[in-house]
Amino acid sequence: MDAIKNITERNSARELIEPHPSKDEMQIVFKAALRAPDHAWLRPSKFIQVSGDKRKKLSDIFLKTARELNDELTELQIEKYHNAPFRAPMIIILTSSPKEHPKVPAIEQIISTGCAGQNILLSLNALGYGAIWRTGTFAFNKQISKNLGLEDGSEVIGYIYTGTMTGSNKKIPNLNIDEYVNVW
Ligand SMILES: Cc1cc2nc3c(=O)[nH]c(=O)nc-3n(C[C@H](O)[C@H](O)[C@H](O)COP(=O)(O)O)c2cc1C
Repeated sequence: MDAIKNITERNSARELIEPHPSKDEMQIVFKAALRAPDHAWLRPSKFIQVSGDKRKKLSDIFLKTARELNDELTELQIEKYHNAPFRAPMIIILTSSPKEHPKVPAIEQIISTGCAGQNILLSLNALGYGAIWRTGTFAFNKQISKNLGLEDGSEVIGYIYTGTMTGSNKKIPNLNIDEYVNVW
């Protein structure tokens, strides 16, 4: 796929079904993720790939975390959290573990993981798959880090729901570049 078209026509997927990328395709996706810009090569980004029956494990972790964060969950919330990992055939969990460094603050390292997330979205698109980045209750909190067994100081910065796009795509907004760019 043309590189610029891949970027400008990427469209987050509302509905995702099987198939998800193969093992070989995911090697390409993670290779792309690990080419994100990374000040001082501190390698803050790590990923968890979840698919098939393992989504049940993630569902249990979501529910456990939700219960720990809120002891008054409604039936609706329980159902929503339980079902969340089954909204796509594969989920890529983006985690960031900023290291102490005299010149590289934690925010730069988290941004680097954000860039890795975008590289994942774009490489999935180039391979013909759909995806959407989601966060919500189970991102940026210590409880989910603990329940996922992440190393100390590591946090979840997002979930990339992955699979094959189905249904109708939303229209890509045609933004007026002049409203966003000052040329000096
Ligand atoms: C850090 C981050 C977190 C996001 N969290 C959510 C989310 O929890 N739920 C959601 O529906 N969209 C979320 N989005 C937005 C979607 O991923 C997507 O960008 C949005 O639907 C617009 O579609 P587009 O990417 O095709 O423009 C998030 C995006 C980013 C960058």
